[in-house]
Amino acid sequence: MNYLPFLFCIVSINALVYDFTQDYHLQHDPLDIFTYLTCLAPQLALQECSIILNNPLNKSVSTMGESSYKTEGERVLLAYLCAKKRMNPELPFELVLRDTRGDYTVVFEPGETRGMQHYFLQRMPECVSAYANPSTALRMSEVDTPYEIHVDQSRPGPRALVTGCSGLLGSMLAEKLLEKGYQVIGIDNGLCSKQSNLSKIIDNPNFYFCSHDVTKPFTIMGRLDMVLHLASIPSPALYYRMPLETLDVGILGTLYTLDIAVQKGGRYLFASTSEVYGNPEVNPQPENYWGNVDPMGIRSPYDESKRGSETLIELYHKKYDLDVRIARIFNTYGPGMRLSDGRVITSFLQSLLKDKPLIVHGSGNQTRSFAYVTDTVDGLVRLLDYDDWIMKQVQDDTYYAGLSQIQERVFNIGNPTEFTINELAQIVVDLGREKLGKNATIEHIDQFDATDPYLRRPDITKAQKLLNFNPTVSLTEGLTKTLDYFLHTQT
Ligand SMILES: NC(=O)c1ccc[n+]([C@@H]2O[C@H](COP(=O)([O-])OP(=O)(O)OC[C@H]3O[C@@H](n4cnc5c(N)ncnc54)[C@H](O)[C@@H]3O)[C@@H](O)[C@H]2O)c1
Repeated sequence: MNYLPFLFCIVSINALVYDFTQDYHLQHDPLDIFTYLTCLAPQLALQECSIILNNPLNKSVSTMGESSYKTEGERVLLAYLCAKKRMNPELPFELVLRDTRGDYTVVFEPGETRGMQHYFLQRMPECVSAYANPSTALRMSEVDTPYEIHVDQSRPGPRALVTGCSGLLGSMLAEKLLEKGYQVIGIDNGLCSKQSNLSKIIDNPNFYFCSHDVTKPFTIMGRLDMVLHLASIPSPALYYRMPLETLDVGILGTLYTLDIAVQKGGRYLFASTSEVYGNPEVNPQPENYWGNVDPMGIRSPYDESKRGSETLIELYHKKYDLDVRIARIFNTYGPGMRLSDGRVITSFLQSLLKDKPLIVHGSGNQTRSFAYVTDTVDGLVRLLDYDDWIMKQVQDDTYYAGLSQIQERVFNIGNPTEFTINELAQIVVDLGREKLGKNATIEHIDQFDATDPYLRRPDITKAQKLLNFNPTVSLTEGLTKTLDYFLHTQT
């Protein structure tokens, strides 16, 4: 690989100015540029320096456009820098956002070294030694040897890797795959899950559980047919506190799992999110909507971890012809969630169980669509199973005419019935009265998070048409089952 092109990205190493506004667009491998921006560049910011980015504040940018490797790469870099600043506001370094109107300077400061260097050191050690600050760069000897995962090779049946396997969706997906005759390797570091979610499958001889962090290198010995990357930190309460870890599990976790899929020649399914649409200007949101996301906002670590992952997946698809599928999952709830995860349904149920008022932020007219976990898992399994002939149908459909190959592989998965938060609160109050004899109250407070999306409703036409996906569980039915679950577990 030729590392010289990266010199153009750096105007002057001595003056410590990192200028990413150069037109490196057609000159280099897009995947290298993306990984440079997202894996190495945040490390350059460990020293006192100026970092110049090219108008990354444009909120409406495709994750899969022709130059997304650059625009989305810069957005991920910006999200990292902002996260570092939030975690350590004391120490300034200079960030310059450049667009046609001129330069806008923001002051940030060196943050801590994170796992991203592992990836970059393995791929581009020469580049690191040339450009990174020698005092902070890791040496090759410090890079972890990949953690090896061994499974019984003599067992028959397809073999799938599920990251985030102890979570709400991962655990049920693993269960479904085992039912379908798969061997399942489940990875989870337990950061935001309940071990009890695995109680039904932990003793299944076809299930292999590995307690491992997917932001650290790992490898699977032997054959592997599917990689399902679900590990993430989707709970706002957690990702506000752990923005860097949230970005890492998206960007690095996606890199490592994509590498494994390429090595093994397996199919790759990614759990993306409706948050890639940000605060949408169209309702409902179809797959070809680019979104409206603030890369500097407090939600950006989660949003950009998913948007950046989508770009990476596109780059791997193009470069290695990898068979990929992206599910943009809309709000999903059900047994297996943590009562304290800060999402709206669990917050309301927690208040109900603790005899506290249900707190609605703002007017309560903001909307959400809620899918019950069995419906979402059904959609994911359908997406995993679909075959190329369906792609041809997509190509023939005028609605999707003009979509690139990768855009065909993106599906909204969710329940299209839209509720206001006031309506949701009322359903929970009614449920509390019927099931528990409680008279819960609803309290409105002014604190409205301006970055909280106002509207959220999936357009699932594509999944309905091509995957025959139709959610069947109503909100009242799903909430009743979820409440029953929390009555038994209380966590
Ligand atoms: N549930 C939803 O409403 C929803 C909506 C949109 C997208 N999604 C996506 O679907 C996926 C599953 O969501 P969920 O609701 O089951 O979330 P969850 O929090 O229940 O599960 C995520 C799992 O990932 C694990 N994890 C986090 N960081 C890890 C790391 N570094 N290494 C290994 N494991 C790690 C957590 O411990 C957890 O078990 C996520 O990628 C999420 O972003 C979920």
